[in-house]
Amino acid sequence: MEIMSNSCNKSKILIFGGTGYFGKHVVRASTSFGHPTFVFVRPATAQMPPSSLQLRGEFRSLGVTLVQGELEEHEKMVSVLKQVDIVISVLPVSAVPDQIKIIDAIIAAGNIKRFLPSEFGCEMDRITPPLPPFEALLEKKKKIRRLIEASTIPYTFVSSNCCAAYFVNFLLHPHDPRPDIVVYGTGEAKAVLNWEQDIAKYTIKVANDPRTRNRVVIYRPPGNIISQNELISSWEKKTGRRFEKVCVQEDELIKLSQSLPSPDNIAVSIVHSVFVRGDLMSLDLDEDDLEASCLYPEIEYTTMDQVLDIFLVDPPEPSRAALE
Ligand SMILES: NC(=O)c1ccc[n+]([C@@H]2O[C@H](COP(=O)([O-])OP(=O)(O)OC[C@H]3O[C@@H](n4cnc5c(N)ncnc54)[C@H](OP(=O)(O)O)[C@@H]3O)[C@@H](O)[C@H]2O)c1
Repeated sequence: MEIMSNSCNKSKILIFGGTGYFGKHVVRASTSFGHPTFVFVRPATAQMPPSSLQLRGEFRSLGVTLVQGELEEHEKMVSVLKQVDIVISVLPVSAVPDQIKIIDAIIAAGNIKRFLPSEFGCEMDRITPPLPPFEALLEKKKKIRRLIEASTIPYTFVSSNCCAAYFVNFLLHPHDPRPDIVVYGTGEAKAVLNWEQDIAKYTIKVANDPRTRNRVVIYRPPGNIISQNELISSWEKKTGRRFEKVCVQEDELIKLSQSLPSPDNIAVSIVHSVFVRGDLMSLDLDEDDLEASCLYPEIEYTTMDQVLDIFLVDPPEPSRAALE
């Protein structure tokens, strides 16, 4: 049975950061499952790119309620929270500490049945400690986890692993065809790359599911476990091209993580953890773990093979955000 509000048969979902790289997929998934959807957005500015205004227009046409406000506006947040059942935050890493304001407002509102904070990466409590810049980022997210656990707010923590389009753009740069592709480490370590739209669909399912209350859910569909070498070889077959492989060794990445400014040092540390050490797959799942493709077999997820087919025909735009 799903979480429902009293007045209608679908839970009402409020999303923070819904206009962002990943957030827009969550908003679309929420509306596609028929949830009355609210997005908390900061007021539009003259500097805002036309694409952001276009997105807000798209959301309105989908029936989304846009609530303009700042995270500092406690009373406004409380009054919006009182109208909804579920809160999903997809705020950027830079705004992760600000989620304390959302937590305070959720406690004041007192009616929220589930909160998903902005995590959407590795299972931070069980990963081997990564290089310091990535570790510092995870510490910020962990601090929010601990605050939520210490409160009475029902929560789910989402470990969605890597966003597929984000990392295919980063690793294979299909928008900028060059003769070479960089291979980090040996290229053999297995990673988990999930299609953004599927992560968003799983997230809406997870947010409504009584089985996931106060639990961590890991998104690891078997068709999305892939190494860099397998990814490159599959891309070569699909494009009919051969790429020169430029190897960046582990010690070089470690040095770069120490010398580059932020956020490039964070990007290098993430690449080291995911693609050199294979940290996402070193985590052994047992029968007590909740894994998304097992929980929701009805969702036909997009395999990495299918993701590359999409890139061949209509490659998704690279994220403007740095890899952090
Ligand atoms: N695992 C992966 O591969 C991967 C990849 C990308 C992202 N992520 C994760 O997904 C989450 C979202 O990241 P993202 O890159 O999608 O975020 P983003 O696009 O950088 O930002 C999301 C939205 O947050 C709002 N925002 C930005 N700064 C804010 C601030 N200081 N205060 C309040 N609102 C602010 C903006 O919306 P408005 O201007 O409309 O308010 C923005 O559109 C993060 O936890 C990130 O780590 C994971």
